Amino acid sequence: MRVAMLLLLIPVALSSAEPGMPGPKYTASGRLTRPEGWREWMFAGANLGMGYTEGQEKPRMNYHNIYLQREAYAYFLKNRKFPDKTMMVMEVFARGTKESINRQGSFEAAPLGIEVALKDEKRFPEKWAYFNFIGEGGKPMADSAPFRKDACWNCHNQHGAADNVFVQFYPVLREALP
Ligand code: HEC
Repeated sequence: MRVAMLLLLIPVALSSAEPGMPGPKYTASGRLTRPEGWREWMFAGANLGMGYTEGQEKPRMNYHNIYLQREAYAYFLKNRKFPDKTMMVMEVFARGTKESINRQGSFEAAPLGIEVALKDEKRFPEKWAYFNFIGEGGKPMADSAPFRKDACWNCHNQHGAADNVFVQFYPVLREALP
């Protein structure tokens, strides 16, 4: 009887901060597995052709669609920070112009892949880590290792409006800020 009760408790103890939230999965060597199903998560916002490197000659005119788990979204509205195991998925699309009857403006054309920001407080000393899943020739990568801190984390930490995230650019999150 006692053993049975213990077994029932284990999954609860291992689950992420928010009940039911889809969490990160890692390979045996500690690489993050490419998340799945993000298009059914909360849609935080879309940006077009943003570039943050000064003097970049030709900014890439790509769309970025940003998603996060619904549970992480609800938590952020209440607490203005993100729960442990939050995944921000940034899906990149090429900018399309010539298609069908379109004569002006642009739309999201070919999907180019995803980048991910992940909060895992026990695993990463800086809490957040950053991953790319766009492989050579645009092929999706099955898993990925975190970037070095100075490649991604520093800029996100310095300039993101809340908890390392660029909340200032995502309308549905921005509204929760004071
Ligand atoms: C010089 C600043 C800067 C650096 C360096 C940087 N980013 Fe970002 N990142 C941004 C900005 C600004 C946004 C929000 C706007 C956008 O790009 O759509 C963003 C958004 C993101 C998002 C969406 C979630 C969030 O945190 O807002 C992901 C995922 C992401 N970046 C991944 C990366 C990865 C991976 C790297 C390192 C290879 C990286 N970034 C390096 C500035 C930076």
